[in-house]
Amino acid sequence: MKRLGILLSGRGSNFLAIVRAIAEGRLNGAEIAVVVSNVAAAPGLAAAAALGLTTRCFLSRGRPRADHDADVIACLREHRVDLVCLAGYMRLLSPAFIAAFPDRILNIHPSLLPAFPGLDAQTQAFDYGCKVAGCTVHFVDEHLDHGVIVLQRAVPVLDTDNAPALAERILEQEHLAYPEAIARVLSGKYRIQGRRFEAISPSDL
Ligand code: GRF
Repeated sequence: MKRLGILLSGRGSNFLAIVRAIAEGRLNGAEIAVVVSNVAAAPGLAAAAALGLTTRCFLSRGRPRADHDADVIACLREHRVDLVCLAGYMRLLSPAFIAAFPDRILNIHPSLLPAFPGLDAQTQAFDYGCKVAGCTVHFVDEHLDHGVIVLQRAVPVLDTDNAPALAERILEQEHLAYPEAIARVLSGKYRIQGRRFEAISPSDL
C-alpha cells in the first residue's frame, strides 16, 4: 500500500475526489494515512474526521514557517507517508519541507500553468479573455505553482460564461485530474527529463 498524506486549508473537494477514487478502485494500492490542516475550521478536515480518517491540525498563524513545517514533516513521517498531496493548502512550503519529500509532493492548481499562478487563477484567466482554461497537477518545488507538470486538463471558456461558472467546470476536471495524476506517480512508471514528466513506455500513458 502507498500511503497518502493530504494537506488542506479549506473546503476539501479535491481531497474528497481522492477518497472517491480510492473507494471506486481508480487508485489501486493507495490509502490515506493522514489528513493535515493548518486551519482548525477547515471543512475538509471535518469531512475527513467524519469519514474516520486520521486528522491533525497544526495552526500556522503567527508561527515561523520553518517551525510549523517541522511539525508537519514530523507528522507525515510518523504516519509513514509516501506521497504528499496538497489539496487547497494555502501555504508555500519551506525548502526543508521540499527536501524532506523529494519528488514526493503534488499540488493541483486551477489554471493551465505557467499561466496564472497564485490566487483566483480562474478569474485571472476569465478576465484575461482566455478561450481555453483548465487545471494542472504538478510536483511542488520552492516556487509558487511552478514544479514539473504531471498532467493538465483543458476547459473551454464559453461566450456565456462568468468566472464562477468557469471555476465550477474547472473544478469538475480537477476532481478527475488529481486522482489520475496520483495514480501515474504511484505507478512509478515515469521519468523526469528536465521539466518533462514522461511515461517510460507508451503503454504507461
Ligand atoms: C482548488 O481549486 C485547487 O485547484 C486549488 O485550491 C482549490 C481547493 O479546493 N489549489 P478544494 O478545497 O479542493 O475544494
